Order: sequence, then C-alpha cells, then structure tokens
Amino acid sequence: MRRAIYPGSFDPPTLGHLDVIERAARLFDELVVAIGVNTDKAPFLPADDRLALLKECTSTLDNVKVTTFQGLLVDYARSVECGVLVRGLRAVSDFEYEFRVAMANRKLDPSIETVFLITRDEYSFLSSTVVREVARLGGDPSGFVPEPVARFIVGRRG
Ligand code: PNS
Repeated sequence: MRRAIYPGSFDPPTLGHLDVIERAARLFDELVVAIGVNTDKAPFLPADDRLALLKECTSTLDNVKVTTFQGLLVDYARSVECGVLVRGLRAVSDFEYEFRVAMANRKLDPSIETVFLITRDEYSFLSSTVVREVARLGGDPSGFVPEPVARFIVGRRG
C-alpha cells in the first residue's frame, strides 16, 4: 500500500491545490490531505471549514482522505504509517523554502521522503495569499478556487 500525505495550510484551498491532489491521487494508492493547524495564527478560514470544503472538493476521489494535524508533520506521518510527503512547486521562488523544509523533515525522520509535483502552467501564479487578498477586497474568487470554496467565500460576505 503506497500512502502519501499532501500537507498544507489550504487557507483557502485553491485550484492549484486541487490539481496537485488529483495528480498525486493517481500516483499513490491512498492520499491523505492533511491540513496543518497552527493554533498561534489567526486563519482566514477556520480549520473546520477548510476540512469540510476540501472533503467536498475531493468527494469524487475514492482514495483521498482529508484530515487535520497539529505539531510536527513527520510525527503525524509516522502516526498514519505514511512514508511520503507530497508538495507542489510553482516556481524557482518556492524552491528555497521547500528545500529548507524538506531538509528539516529529512533530518527529523530520514525514512520519510518528500516528492515534488510541478504545478501546471495555468496555476503557477496562484497562491492562497493571492486568493485571500482578492477575497478581502471584495473581488470574485471563482477563477482561483474550486466552486464550493468560491461559494463559501462569497457567502461569508452576507
Ligand atoms: O501550505 P503551507 O502553509 O506551505 O503548509 C505548511 C505546512 C502546514 C505543511 C508546514 O508548515 C508544516 O508542515 N507544519 C507543521 C510543522 C512542521 O512539521 N514543520 C516542518 C519542520 S520545519
């Protein structure tokens, strides 16, 4: 059984995240999408909403599970018997941060591999930060996020 974790803040989940989820789900028997919960930082969307939205967005993908985790990612990976971490890489600018985190994770647990999926061209500009900015300023998020997420963000405005 090849099980991988795709960890992230997903605050909010974007079309780029969904693309990585769909592609990773084809590469592994099971993919655990794991929402990292940072209790010190006020999120844009509460973790429960991110969990529900990601479940809705991945409901047709039978081998994808969505969960939350706290603490170190490698500890969580071990607790669910998972030896592979998947991360998306958009551009060279992502590389330095991703390299540092992958190295730290390898130091913490050398048995866990990080694999990178290169983002599709059309999502190379896309980030949750961009979506948060668009959403906060009243813009239309529908070109950036899956439909349930766009509906949720617009619905919150009342
Ligand atoms: O989508 P993001 O914000 O880049 O996701 C970051 C996340 C949640 C994957 C990362 O911050 C994380 O793994 N946090 C848990 C703490 C940890 O294990 N950090 C890596 C060692 S420095």
